[in-house]
Amino acid sequence: MPREDSTQAPLLPAPPPRRAAASLHPLPLLVAAAFAVSYHLLLAAPPPSHYQSLFLSLGSNDTAAAHLRALTARPHPAGMEANALAANYVAAALSSHGFPTRLTPYSVLLSYPIHRSLSLSAAPGRDAAAFALRQETYPGDPYAAASAEAVPTFLAYAASGSVAAEAVYANYGRAEDYAYLAARGVNVTGKVAVARYGKVYRGDIVKNARDAGAAAAVIYTDFKDYTPGKAFPDGPGMPPTGVQVGSTFKGVGDPTTPMWASSEGCERLSVAEAMASDDMPGIPALPVSGRDGEAILQVIGGEVAPEDWQGGDGAPVYRLGPGPAVLNLTYTGNETMATIQNVISVIEGEEEPERYIILGNHRDAWTFGAVDPNSGTAALLELAQRFRKLQKKGWKPRRTIILCNWDAEEYGLTGSTEWVEENRAMLASRTIAYLNVDSAVAGPGFYASATPQLDELLQDASKQIGRLGGGGSDYSAFVQHIGVPSVDMSIGPGYAVYHSLYDDFTWIEKFGDPLFRRHVAVASIWGLLALKLSDEEILPFNYTCYARELENGAMDINKRVLGMPVNLSPLYKSIKEFKRAILKVDSELKALETWRSWAPWRNNPLKVKDINDRLMMTERAFTEREGLSGRPWYKHLIYGPSLYNDYGAEVYPGVDDAIQRAKRTNISESWKSVQHEIHRISRVINQAALVLSGRLT
Ligand SMILES: *[C@@H]1O[C@H](CO)[C@@H](O)[C@H](O)[C@H]1NC(C)=O
Ligand SMILES: *[C@@H]1O[C@H](CO)[C@@H](O)[C@H](O)[C@H]1NC(C)=O
Ligand SMILES: *[C@@H]1O[C@H](CO)[C@@H](O)[C@H](O)[C@H]1NC(C)=O
Ligand SMILES: *[C@@H]1O[C@H](CO)[C@@H](O)[C@H](O)[C@H]1NC(C)=O
Repeated sequence: MPREDSTQAPLLPAPPPRRAAASLHPLPLLVAAAFAVSYHLLLAAPPPSHYQSLFLSLGSNDTAAAHLRALTARPHPAGMEANALAANYVAAALSSHGFPTRLTPYSVLLSYPIHRSLSLSAAPGRDAAAFALRQETYPGDPYAAASAEAVPTFLAYAASGSVAAEAVYANYGRAEDYAYLAARGVNVTGKVAVARYGKVYRGDIVKNARDAGAAAAVIYTDFKDYTPGKAFPDGPGMPPTGVQVGSTFKGVGDPTTPMWASSEGCERLSVAEAMASDDMPGIPALPVSGRDGEAILQVIGGEVAPEDWQGGDGAPVYRLGPGPAVLNLTYTGNETMATIQNVISVIEGEEEPERYIILGNHRDAWTFGAVDPNSGTAALLELAQRFRKLQKKGWKPRRTIILCNWDAEEYGLTGSTEWVEENRAMLASRTIAYLNVDSAVAGPGFYASATPQLDELLQDASKQIGRLGGGGSDYSAFVQHIGVPSVDMSIGPGYAVYHSLYDDFTWIEKFGDPLFRRHVAVASIWGLLALKLSDEEILPFNYTCYARELENGAMDINKRVLGMPVNLSPLYKSIKEFKRAILKVDSELKALETWRSWAPWRNNPLKVKDINDRLMMTERAFTEREGLSGRPWYKHLIYGPSLYNDYGAEVYPGVDDAIQRAKRTNISESWKSVQHEIHRISRVINQAALVLSGRLT
């Protein structure tokens, strides 16, 4: 479930081109000679090694296209036979290159629809018309027959039940939308909330409806947001009957094993206990198409909704309600234990086999999954083929590269979470970095989010760098649970047919990536990062960007607590310590360099290992055993998802939670908890500074 278009975390402007500019200044000859040496140092990044250029030259769009076509022949949600077959396909492709490959199965709680019905009457007592709740195929659709296998449109983990009540329009279903309704005297209690997709995670849309007292929720796809131009198959937009399916679980991993792995014979909650969790939506809910959404809004009366709540051209005037429209929603779900499978493939390192660079992408899809996620799977398999060709030319990675293909990401990042939980201590002590690609390709433009020490490495390849705070994909367990530096990449910001029946090979071929060059581009960047992280003797991490991000976050907090009894000096002091640690490690690296330039025969492997270990473990120090207040699985105190939108990224999420709470209540006790959170982040930053500088107090 990567973020969809309008929920993309804010992206920073493109970083200015840096090193290349130096060569543009013509210099007088003498000065130029004097500069020659330092100029060389300025171009610090080594020229791509032989194997890196070879890797880049080996890309094959035909290979990527062939894998994508094979993977997307049938709908393949987690737990279904088609997805087990897809796991075998991925495992066979990876083993065919001679990489030791295995499946890691887990038994987890998934959710499927058994019965759905939704009918609308224009007023109480009037005749009700039932919606078909079907996504239509088009004449000549090569996937029409396979479409019959798709799961009916539903929201995973929605509560079973039947509700007949007046409808209320709730815009994007955010907390502020319900606050507006309350201010206008619209009482949502016992009603069916009708909200549109596009601003927050759908699990938050349903939760906000429940918190406002709604008895059920309906989420629709507004044409204004998802069909600005032509609809598929004539254009990339969402067709009138297109429905965004998806999960409404706000937790991560298997709901029966919160905080621990779903290993065989493990301790488990009962299904009833798991479904009673506050991370579950708790009310019946259904997703509907743009056409059905408009039909409902047509008969909702009451006050006219504000301008920014309205639809596009041709849409009816949206009103707040409640009623007179009555919706009768019945949903029965099957919450059942099912087997999922990750595919894990290992290319062992030659010199440091105990250090891991992990590449991951998920495989399960709500329907055909051409964009989400199999564009990424196709890129992974294409990249694996290139690694094999490199091996044949003599390449031996210095460190171990692990290729992972996750299952059940769509339900709650489940496959990656269970594996990280099961291997937590090993991964936390050995992993250099995690590189995620979910949907690789949806259109033009390169997008990446990363923990900041990887910025510089990404800069050559990327135009825009965001931060990995949100909980949108499989990097979550790596960064937020165990503190591994991570990157998440894609080409194209988002796409309209997301999680619908129309996310198929035809859509990619016509609109997403007609020549499959974008697939190759993603595989190139992904593989190049892996090669650099695996092969460069000193880890290409730069913590200066991290310090800057910590400072920016502190300045943000400063603005938000102005005039309040909150003291930020512990935070500023810890950031200062962190910057001193960066200077120390830099000077150690310079000394190492100088030492070698005078005595190249004296390489110093233990010193190199010491510095690399510190660079690797610094991110870990930002995690804390107890985790975020009230959200103990999230151990990382610097980056985490916003409490109010699982897709949203927050720097210092615990401080943000506390400030939002304090502003609501505004009593001195609640400002004390803001101060407590400031102390907590200062403490982990001090820990990180000690690790980076390799110093005991
Ligand atoms: C909303 O309606 C419910 C049930 O009808 C009622 O109990 C509640 O007091 C109402 N809330 C407001 C703010 O009027
Ligand atoms: C709502 O729909 C269900 C299923 O179609 C039906 O059994 C039930 O009678 C309806 N309820 C009302 C109040 O119309
Ligand atoms: C629920 O799912 C399980 C496992 O797929 C299946 O065996 C069972 O028949 C389903 N129950 C219903 C009522 O459909
Ligand atoms: C791969 O690229 C070549 C050259 O750009 C192009 O002719 C070919 O059609 C592409 N393959 C696919 C499957 O799109």
